Amino acid sequence: MTKVTVVGAGNVGATCADVLAYREIAEEIVLVDIKEGVAEGKALDIWQKAPINAYDSRTIGSTNDYSKTAGSDVVVITSGLPRKPGMTRDDLIETNAGIVKMVTENVVKHSPEAIIIIVSNPLDVMTYQAHITSKKPKTKVIGMAGILDTARYRAFLAEELDISPKEIQAILMGGHGDTMVPLPRYTTVAGIPVTELIAKDKLDAIIERTKFGGGELVKLMGTSAWYAPGAAAAQMVESIVKNQKRVFPVCIKLDGEYGIDDCYLGVPVILGKNGIEKVIELDLNNEEKALLEVSRTHVKEVMAVLDKLAVK
Ligand code: NAI
Ligand code: 2OP
Repeated sequence: MTKVTVVGAGNVGATCADVLAYREIAEEIVLVDIKEGVAEGKALDIWQKAPINAYDSRTIGSTNDYSKTAGSDVVVITSGLPRKPGMTRDDLIETNAGIVKMVTENVVKHSPEAIIIIVSNPLDVMTYQAHITSKKPKTKVIGMAGILDTARYRAFLAEELDISPKEIQAILMGGHGDTMVPLPRYTTVAGIPVTELIAKDKLDAIIERTKFGGGELVKLMGTSAWYAPGAAAAQMVESIVKNQKRVFPVCIKLDGEYGIDDCYLGVPVILGKNGIEKVIELDLNNEEKALLEVSRTHVKEVMAVLDKLAVK
């Protein structure tokens, strides 16, 4: 039986659990939250949707009782504060590091074999926190951001070109934030290089909008996004539990890949039953390398903030 736990039954966690259930990605989904009754209520609500949407996956809720999560194959950690208008993802570090540390300890205790997917922000540095707390191999503690950032980019391109979003293939790299590294060279529409279909100024404007795509939604809603983030995390779970070996940009600790050491950044990987099966090393040009370096420098600065915090 495939069992997946989602910690944090807020906007992103509940959406992720819902996608995992209605797409029957896991047979059992456990939703955990610290707020009394919230996870139980949302799990029950998702289960009561099963007869309408016709799925068999069972959803179970728990208020901070990790014994119910025991033996999970994959655990998605979404617990933590989201941004409010005017905040950067990095402003969340102190509170969320404490939460991610505590949650990771509980997860590892009850599901020592689980692959952990981090969603909480600041994403790259929360992946760092979970990795050191879990003491697991780096291939099994990974962060979700690249699928979301790439989806935003693909959606904007689909709108501009008036083409199905399904036809747009793309990859983005780097940290989750304004320093993400778009790769128009690797963006295609049904195999056609996107640069043959769109003017440079339009593509540049879409790349700029993508970089600030999270902030655009915070401004509109007063909190951060959840439909696309929840679905993106569920897509990572699916690739792992079904051993699909799909290629996604995923945050992982780099130890020499791309010439970068000891830094958590999004890179293209093959995602399968062992977590990261392989990091794909693209042959970046000088401009792309320079952008990745800016991203690395920023993530290293935030990692240094975490290093100074007592919670680490
Ligand atoms: P939310 O506020 O709706 O939900 C967070 C949930 O975490 C709350 O229900 C809260 O009670 C719970 N929680 C807090 N401490 C906990 C603990 N110790 N144990 C269990 N549960 C705990 O927030 P939302 O919108 O779901 O966002 C969650 C996190 O995901 C935020 O940090 C946000 O910035 C991040 N995020 C990351 C994205 C990415 O691309 N990596 C995309 C969207 C959000
Ligand atoms: C996003 O990009 C807040 O990181 C979150 O929507």
